[in-house]
Amino acid sequence: MRFLTAGESHGPALTVIVDGLPAGVAVDRAALDADLKRRQGGYGRGGRMKIESDQVEVLSGVRHGKTLGSPVSLVIRNRDHENWRDVMSPDPQPPEAKKRRALKHPRPGHADLSGALKYLTDDLRDVLERASARETTARVAAGGLAKALLAAAGVQVRSHVLRIGRAAVGAEPATWDALAAVEESPVRCVDAQAAAAMIAEIDAAKKAGDSVGGVFEVIAREVPPGLGSFAHWDRRLDGRLAQALMSIQAVKAVSLGAGFRGGDTPGSAFHDEILFDDERGLHRPSNRAGGLEGGVTNGEELRAQAVVKPIPTLLIGLRSIDLRTKEPQTASVERSDTCVVPAAGVVGEAMVAWVLADAMLEKFGGDSLTEMLEHLEATRRLWREFLSRRPRPA
Ligand SMILES: Cc1cc2nc3c(=O)[nH]c(=O)nc-3n(C[C@H](O)[C@H](O)[C@H](O)COP(=O)(O)O)c2cc1C
Repeated sequence: MRFLTAGESHGPALTVIVDGLPAGVAVDRAALDADLKRRQGGYGRGGRMKIESDQVEVLSGVRHGKTLGSPVSLVIRNRDHENWRDVMSPDPQPPEAKKRRALKHPRPGHADLSGALKYLTDDLRDVLERASARETTARVAAGGLAKALLAAAGVQVRSHVLRIGRAAVGAEPATWDALAAVEESPVRCVDAQAAAAMIAEIDAAKKAGDSVGGVFEVIAREVPPGLGSFAHWDRRLDGRLAQALMSIQAVKAVSLGAGFRGGDTPGSAFHDEILFDDERGLHRPSNRAGGLEGGVTNGEELRAQAVVKPIPTLLIGLRSIDLRTKEPQTASVERSDTCVVPAAGVVGEAMVAWVLADAMLEKFGGDSLTEMLEHLEATRRLWREFLSRRPRPA
């Protein structure tokens, strides 16, 4: 599977083409829109999200609620484009239009300066329009299709917030059931006390004209074992998940399971022992590996965390320069959020779902969902036989 997104932040729309989905995957537009809405929400978002009300239009690849096996193309319109028609016009415009929203003072932490040097432009709008995380709208839509494929195989993906600034949940991993109520929390956090502290962190940052980052976790349940491969570096699923999560704007670190704790924990307290009894069959008393060993899923819950940096557009304005005169200047300010960690978690779900759906198709394959599910069921039968096999007593 692959997907390709296009579109600028204030252009007419974001678009995405998803190729390689089998035929027969149920496409529920309400579910796709619900994910888009979750991406727009979360305490700490700014004015832009009040203007937009993201909805998916399906242009191809879906008929009567099911994928056809042909490329699926989706469009999400930018309502705000109305106010930017001349600035974002594909046609030549009088100089006033270009000047009206030109940005000349690169914002530290944004792609502004690196993009200006890459494309040799001193109007940073040429860069930021595509570098903007508005692009994640298209990713969430593509991820929604991946989630639909996974759901047919019984795999579910959820996310929640572990930390915002100095406020964090306790060390005990959140249970799957606790995640069911996460959307009721304004910061998408399972712990009400920690959530209140997170909100206070965001309020304090906003008041100071500053921003605040944090950590989210994505959890996937009922992931079949055997996805990915240890045979090649680029087939390892841990590496593929890390790349997908790291590619989200503002994500600066990714870990799997107990991840960073591996650096200061002895092996005996880190690895998950392997147990078997007649009642429970194969089981593990802990899941510090986060569902992957050797780059291959092991049948446990998949748990991946990502660190989101404090977003770089700051009302207080960091030191920068005017790219034309090279004189010192305060960095430009574009309408902005204060904290995007809850929303980034929703994007994280989409990226994890995408990688898992891709790996499912690799292992279980098929042009239609029916074929994939039959193959999965047959493999599940083989696993059961494999695990019930024991040598006969002599
Ligand atoms: C959902 C989401 C929304 C974001 N919104 C903003 C924003 O309003 N203002 C801002 O400065 N950065 C925002 N960012 C972060 C920037 O897009 C990102 O830091 C920037 O593109 C540079 O990329 P990098 O941080 O990966 O190096 C957002 C990120 C995400 C995931």
